[in-house]
Amino acid sequence: VTTVKLAVIPGDGIGPEVVAEALKALDAATADRGIEFDRTEFQLGAARYLETGDVLTDDDLAAIKSHDAILLGAVGGVPGDPRLVGANIERGLLLKLRFDLDHYVNLRPSVLYEGVRSPLAEPGEVDFVVVREGTEGPYVGNGGAIRTGTPAEVANEVSVNTAYGVERVVRYAFGLAASRPRQKLTLVHKTNVLVFAGSLWKRTVDRVAEEFPEVTVDYLHVDAATIFLVTDPGRFDVIVTDNLFGDILTDLAGAISGGIGLAASGNINPDGTFPSMFEPVHGSAPDIAGKGIADPTAAIGSVALLLRHLGEAEAAERVERAIAADVAERGDRPRSTSEIGDQIAARIQALQPAHS
Ligand code: NAD
Ligand code: IPM
Ligand code: MN
Repeated sequence: VTTVKLAVIPGDGIGPEVVAEALKALDAATADRGIEFDRTEFQLGAARYLETGDVLTDDDLAAIKSHDAILLGAVGGVPGDPRLVGANIERGLLLKLRFDLDHYVNLRPSVLYEGVRSPLAEPGEVDFVVVREGTEGPYVGNGGAIRTGTPAEVANEVSVNTAYGVERVVRYAFGLAASRPRQKLTLVHKTNVLVFAGSLWKRTVDRVAEEFPEVTVDYLHVDAATIFLVTDPGRFDVIVTDNLFGDILTDLAGAISGGIGLAASGNINPDGTFPSMFEPVHGSAPDIAGKGIADPTAAIGSVALLLRHLGEAEAAERVERAIAADVAERGDRPRSTSEIGDQIAARIQALQPAHS
């Protein structure tokens, strides 16, 4: 039996609600399968901060690092809560984990499952993956402000793009594109305005493309990419893009493929030096927290990504097939978070090959 040390960070708002269902799916997919998950729960997020004043201590970080993988629900309080001003849970916790654990690939697949209603009238086939850079760009916190609060205030937020950082994520995206049937890669940037970073991204894609002659390469400015995501999402296969563009595009991608409640993601350290972290694309949804109505499907889909990352392709596939079957039969009858979780877990179990 293989034992996997799993750090679980339920977080805030609907985070703990959806993580509970994701763990049911994980149990169902791995019961008697020769793999065991040794779980440690970490109480982190806005609630923990309000209680103790800590966002992420060095001890927390060291303990999390000693695990093989991380499952996270969502962190962050009610936007605008005055008690959280200055705490910056998102930077101090979520981004700190992504940066310190070198999650340079933020993998965000979008599939419009059979039977799922898209807000687009004629979405066609939607099956693409956004490879969002995870450790650079405008997210690095390279900025500052002077004369704050005065009419002469200047606030800078500098995007950092390194040849090393761009090349490794571009190379990953090409490898992924080469492994998919359509073998297509679209670079999304804003090379017409962000000329320095844009030029680095464009030259890197052109150079790495030479190693992947089987991959068709395409380029779109990010504004135009939002048009085509709505008018013709079927044109996309693998999108590679910077940290901020990727954040924005993947909420849109979630919306067109049936809703943010379905969108799963992985923050991957492909080198395996640090544990990778799996989480829904959505946040803590304070507007529906505590009501038991959050859709846990994105968190369950993140478990599938986690299992695939750990080499458990068969278990991952069962989770994905169970999700596809569940969403295909979703009518208009509302179900609670735990009803959806229980039903998907039951489907995973039913897909279990008979064992002796
Ligand atoms: P959000 O994703 O939490 O919510 C946006 C909208 O989507 C809300 O109407 C919400 O009810 C709905 N929604 C989200 N997840 C859903 C689900 N599973 N089922 C049904 N509906 C769902 O985004 P926000 O409101 O901008 O942010 C809320 C808090 O979460 C903020 O503090 C933000 O910083 C944080 N956040 C955290 C993460 C993360 O932990 N990875 C991601 C995004 C936002
Ligand atoms: C996401 C979130 C985060 C991001 C925030 C909460 C830091 O929006 O995971 O998409 O911008 O990456
Ligand atoms: Mn986001």
